[in-house]
Amino acid sequence: MTSVDRDVETATPRETAEGETPHPLRELSEQDLRAHTAEVLERARRRSVELTDAVDDDDLVKQHSKLMSPLVWDLAHIGSQEELWLVRDVGGRDPLRPDIDDLYDAFQHPRATRPSLPLLGPSEARSYVAEVRDKAFDVLERAPLRGRDLTRTAFAFGMIAQHEQQHDETMLATHQLRKGDPVLHAPAPPSATARDLPEEIVVPSGSFTMGTSVEPWALDNERPAHEVFVEAFALDTTPVTNARYAEFVDDGGYGDRRWWSEQGWSYRSEYGITAPRFWRREDGRWWRLRFGVYEPVPPDEPVVHVSYHEAEAFAAWAGKRLPTEAEWEKAARYDPATGRSRRYPWGDDDPTPEHANLGQRHLRPAPVGAYPKGVSAVGAHQLVGDVWEWTSSDFTPYPGFVAFPYREYSEVFFGPEYKVLRGGSFGSDPVAVRGTFRNWDYPIRRQIFAGFRCARDLRPGDAGV
Ligand SMILES: [Fe+2]
Repeated sequence: MTSVDRDVETATPRETAEGETPHPLRELSEQDLRAHTAEVLERARRRSVELTDAVDDDDLVKQHSKLMSPLVWDLAHIGSQEELWLVRDVGGRDPLRPDIDDLYDAFQHPRATRPSLPLLGPSEARSYVAEVRDKAFDVLERAPLRGRDLTRTAFAFGMIAQHEQQHDETMLATHQLRKGDPVLHAPAPPSATARDLPEEIVVPSGSFTMGTSVEPWALDNERPAHEVFVEAFALDTTPVTNARYAEFVDDGGYGDRRWWSEQGWSYRSEYGITAPRFWRREDGRWWRLRFGVYEPVPPDEPVVHVSYHEAEAFAAWAGKRLPTEAEWEKAARYDPATGRSRRYPWGDDDPTPEHANLGQRHLRPAPVGAYPKGVSAVGAHQLVGDVWEWTSSDFTPYPGFVAFPYREYSEVFFGPEYKVLRGGSFGSDPVAVRGTFRNWDYPIRRQIFAGFRCARDLRPGDAGV
C-alpha cells in the first residue's frame, strides 16, 4: 500500500444486483452503520493487541523468519495505513507522522530487509497506533457515509479493518514460525458431527453469478458481478485431510516425478521438501509443530501448510486436479433452487461460530464434518474457514475490473506469478472472508494456513456420484 489515490471519485463500481442477493449493511441506519463499523475495528484491534502482547519486546523486534516482518513492523504498518486512509484522506486531518510513511510502505521495503530499518520500538509503535485509532474514531463519528465511493457505506473503514485483520493473520503465521514455548492459547475446535460424508459432490453444469457488485466492503478484485459458465464437475465434499495426505507421502509421492509439474518438481528438489511444513516422522508416525506444541498429526483435520505445487502433485496422484476459482466459487455460492449466488456457502447471514472455523477462535483447523451448518447449497462442507484452499487459477482481473481505491491493492499483482486461494482459514476474521473474497500468493508458499480440496471432470455414468 503506497500512495493515497486522490482520483477515487472517478472510480464507480457497478451497483447492479443481478443474480446476487442484496446486502444487509445497506439497510442499516447511519447511526447503526457507524456502531457496527466501530465494533469491527475494535475487534481487529483486540486481536492485534493479543498477538503483540503475547511476546516480550525482544520477540517483537526480532525477525522470526526471513519470510516475515518483525511483529513490531506489522503493528506500526497497521497504524500507518489507518492514518493514510482514515485520518488523512477521509478525515482530511493533518498527518501525525509523515516522517515514517516510507518505513511502513510495503512496496519500498521487502520483508527480509525490514529488521534493518530504523523502526518504531514496541512502546512507540503501541502509542502511535493508539493515537491513530483515536483520531480514526473521531473521523468515523463525523464523516459522511454517503456520496464519495471511498466513504459510501463506510467502505474505507471496512477496508482498513480488513487490512488489520489480514496483518493479524500474517502475525499469526509469524507466531507459527517462532521458536520457543507456546504463548497463544485457545480452546479446541468442535468435533465432527457430520459423519459418513460422500467423498465427492456434483456441481451441475450452467452459468452462475461470480464476484459481486453489491457487497459494500468487497475489494476491487472481487468486482464486478459477472456471469460465468461452468461445466458440471465433481468436487471433494471436504478439504483433503492429514490422513489422506499422509497416504500420498507414504506412497512416495514426493519422490515420484509423475505427479509434479516441471516447476513443482524443481521447487521440491531445490528445497528438499518431503512432507508438509512443520511435519516430522518419528517412531513410525507423523508429528507436527503447531504454535510451539509438538503433537501427533490429527488424521481428520484438513492438511495445512502445503504449497500450491504440493497440492497439485497430490491431486495428480489421486487421479484428480485442483478446482478452478470459478468452480470453487460456484460450489460455495450457487443455489440451484433460486439460480442466485449467495454471500456465503450457508446463505446470506454473516458467519457465526456454528457456520465456520474463523477468527482465531481455535488455533487449528477443525476436523472434517465439524460444521454441518456451514454446508453449501450443493453439499460442500467447510469451504469457508479452517484452511485457505489453493485453486488452479492465476490471479487475474474480472471483466470490467476497475482499480479502487489504488492500483497497488490488486492490479499490480495480476498475472501468472500468483495463484488464487479461497475461503479463509481458522486465522481469518469474518470481516476479511466471504464467498467472493480472493487471496493470492506464490505457488511455493507454505507458511500460510493453506490446504486444498480436489475436483475432477465428470465421466459417463457419474451423474449420481
Ligand atoms: Fe499491508
